[in-house]
Amino acid sequence: MIHTFLTDSWGLRYPIIGAPMAGVADAVLAAAVSRAGGLGMIGMSSQARPDFLLQQAAIARTAGPFGIGLMIWALDERPDLFEAALTARPMLLSLSFGDPTPYVARCHASSIRVATQVHSRDEAIQAQAAGVDLIVAQGSEAGGHTGSVATLPLMQIVLDAVTVPVVAAGGIASPRGVGGVIAAGAAGAWIGTALLASPETLHRPVARERILSARETETVLTHVFDRVQDLPWPDAYPGRAIRNHFTDQWHGREEDVGPSSMAFQTFHRHRGDYDIDFVYVGQAVGLVNATRSAEDVVKTMGQGAEEWLRQRMATLFDPA
Ligand SMILES: Cc1cc2nc3c(=O)[nH]c(=O)nc-3n(C[C@H](O)[C@H](O)[C@H](O)COP(=O)(O)O)c2cc1C
Repeated sequence: MIHTFLTDSWGLRYPIIGAPMAGVADAVLAAAVSRAGGLGMIGMSSQARPDFLLQQAAIARTAGPFGIGLMIWALDERPDLFEAALTARPMLLSLSFGDPTPYVARCHASSIRVATQVHSRDEAIQAQAAGVDLIVAQGSEAGGHTGSVATLPLMQIVLDAVTVPVVAAGGIASPRGVGGVIAAGAAGAWIGTALLASPETLHRPVARERILSARETETVLTHVFDRVQDLPWPDAYPGRAIRNHFTDQWHGREEDVGPSSMAFQTFHRHRGDYDIDFVYVGQAVGLVNATRSAEDVVKTMGQGAEEWLRQRMATLFDPA
């Protein structure tokens, strides 16, 4: 077994956290990840209803510890969502894409640990000052919304800048990836894309087919899907999705996709048609080539990282 903060202090079998992915990771995926020995998380969109959150939490709890992910930028207008998350009592609440400072004390008062995804040294220092329990260095390779610095430089910068445990997110979808970030000093890996072809996600088979066939060169980091849905995501966090006809035409022309535009009408007429609609994935999609259960993904990455690290270490040094 690998000893890191996540396994020694949080009791996980594998130092792997299944990312909260709104619209994709509900309680079924979270429970599967937790049962496999990681920590599964439920993603909540900015528009989720509190009763849905509570219902999902009740399902996830049947598999053991679980987490919930919320978007900080949405919470000013959605205090009800934050209150529901406190009531749900997850082991971990991920508060990302904004400053977690106003929320940490209330989580701790409810015995809930807090993680936040950071995208720069300044955000990491701010998160540590806020008192979060885990910092997620989320690189720009990541699927979904993310920042502008790649995982490798960001992880090194954040590990040097803070003393709070750090996990790496963005581009990790193999035993090598998990082993690599642990060898560098991270407490584990926070994985999203690696789980996207698993049947436990909310993706329909047609979206899963897109994921299975997409290569690492076929993603785009864009605001266009947020603007065409009129979602007020901050400019600092574009979303990484599979490139398609819609991004080829409108990425970089975000001002032309507003509610009265042709692009807007086209998009909303073609929901579920993935030449137009979005499938958020990271660059590690190039490693996702088969439909595998979430349990298989977590165990293969966790167990594989142990074996890979042992073999690699044995070859790197002369015998003592
Ligand atoms: C489909 C999808 C949806 C996501 N939704 C959320 C979300 O709701 N909240 C959040 O904090 N992060 C979200 N993320 C980002 C993940 O938390 C995580 O940082 C990312 O998946 C890690 O990179 P990877 O995809 O390369 O593994 C999402 C990622 C994906 C792929």
